[in-house]
Amino acid sequence: MKRKEFFTALGVSAGTVMFAPFLVSCSKGTSVADPGTGGTPSGTVDFTLDLSLAANSALVAVGGSVINSGVIIAHTASGYVAVASACTHQGAQLVFDNANNRFNCSSTGGGHGSQFSTTGSVTAGPAPKALKMYSTSLVGTKLRVFA
Ligand code: FES
Repeated sequence: MKRKEFFTALGVSAGTVMFAPFLVSCSKGTSVADPGTGGTPSGTVDFTLDLSLAANSALVAVGGSVINSGVIIAHTASGYVAVASACTHQGAQLVFDNANNRFNCSSTGGGHGSQFSTTGSVTAGPAPKALKMYSTSLVGTKLRVFA
């Protein structure tokens, strides 16, 4: 059986095969829940990330970060920290700035420029209030993030 016949028998096209890895990556990627009012995730925050999975591999090394369920988790030089991932100004996504050990609003290029410490406090406005901070607990490769 030739390759094309094989894939035809499986019911997939070459395009599906080419893009399948990207689709899997997306489905395993991080998700962001509705950040809710004031940049805080709505509902209870209590989830566990398996650091052995590729989707969370950025958290293995110091400097990495992952966003999940409206929370940005960063591996700082002092350990793991987790804060609400939406800026308290207008809700733009935060990014972890390892070089400066802080969270920067992704709207920085657009001119807002808020910055937050790793404890969530505002270090540069116009963000009006601190980020909600969450607890973390690492057992083996399982990192729990909770309120
Ligand atoms: S949305 Fe972050 S500073 Fe404006």
